[in-house]
Amino acid sequence: MHTFTQSETLKRLPEQFFARLVKKTQDLKEKGHDVIILGQGNPDLPTPDHIVKALQKAAEDPVNHKYSPFQGFDYLKEAVAAFYKREYDVTVDPGREVAVLFGAKTGLVEVSQCLLDSGDLALLPDLGYPDYLSGIALADAATEFMPLLKENDFLPDYKHLSESILEQAKLMFLNYPNNPTAATATEAFFDETVELAKKYDICVVHDFAYGAIGFDGKKPRSFLQTSGAKDIGIEMYTMSKTYNMAGWRVAFAVGNPSVVESLNLIQDHLYVSLFGAIQHAAAEALKGDQTPVRQLADTYEARRNCFINAVREIGWDVEAPAGTFFAWLPIPEGYTSESFADVLLEKAHVVVAPGNGFGQSGEGYVRVGLLDTEERLQEAVDRIGKLNLF
Ligand SMILES: Cc1ncc(COP(=O)(O)O)c(C=O)c1O
Repeated sequence: MHTFTQSETLKRLPEQFFARLVKKTQDLKEKGHDVIILGQGNPDLPTPDHIVKALQKAAEDPVNHKYSPFQGFDYLKEAVAAFYKREYDVTVDPGREVAVLFGAKTGLVEVSQCLLDSGDLALLPDLGYPDYLSGIALADAATEFMPLLKENDFLPDYKHLSESILEQAKLMFLNYPNNPTAATATEAFFDETVELAKKYDICVVHDFAYGAIGFDGKKPRSFLQTSGAKDIGIEMYTMSKTYNMAGWRVAFAVGNPSVVESLNLIQDHLYVSLFGAIQHAAAEALKGDQTPVRQLADTYEARRNCFINAVREIGWDVEAPAGTFFAWLPIPEGYTSESFADVLLEKAHVVVAPGNGFGQSGEGYVRVGLLDTEERLQEAVDRIGKLNLF
């Protein structure tokens, strides 16, 4: 069999850091162990029933058996605009300021190809969702990392970016509530971001994947609530987490019309839009009863409380996350992120994600996904407690 050589573009793609962890987990499970998997970001609960029903009904409608309009149905984009108005009091033009995406992952990869040429510079949070890097690699662009440090509440400190870096930068990625640190952004930080981006002509891409998951009565801010945000940026909003629709692959880019146009253009060449029945159900989700969204956030908050209390009881000194379904935990001395995650995996059969997989600033931490029941989270901590590591 002939083996065809991969293109240079493909060879630039970063290695999938978590593949090793997935393999080790699989090996343990195959040996019959009861493994508690808290290493991934895959929501464990089902899509609310009324959304599934809307899909079933729409799947029977022959209108949806044809090709969808290239840039998505107008009714879906109108539902997104109504969602932003209702949830954030942000006005967007559904025709020019909303692009329908096959999940935020796709949009986050596409946007670099839309705006960056070979050698262009992008600013990336050092601690972030690994796919930002994939898009930059495909565009053959360069990266300047902005460390997210505990002493800065895991927000980038723009003072550390030199004048020449800021002059060169064309694109900046941000994500709050943040994966992996679970930190949230302040209004002042978004104001500062808009000011900086305007001064240096940088397009800001705010990944709002965990927009619906804020705790202690605090609703996470949309970047688009910041005055002037639409002039210099877009927000990516996925339905994966808010509505437990990760498998459905629906998200939106909302904001700056020139970026929306570019995303639509690249997608015109890559795909025809999403299955119409999925678009129909997504619109129902955005417009319909939001009680399941609030219940979901309450469920994650209850899990957070259970997990953080349990962890503190075994002597692990941690801070409570402000949002997302992750906990970002400092590891005890004498370990690296990977060696600590390995100990938990091998001795407690608990899978957590080593922090360095999200960037250099993640060394010294592990990320725990609160993606199992309170009982299983308690069981995970009990097992870890028995190892007497704290
Ligand atoms: C920060 C962040 N952005 C984007 C995504 C991907 O979202 P989607 O399912 O819409 O591709 C994830 C998924 O884990 C995420 O954690």
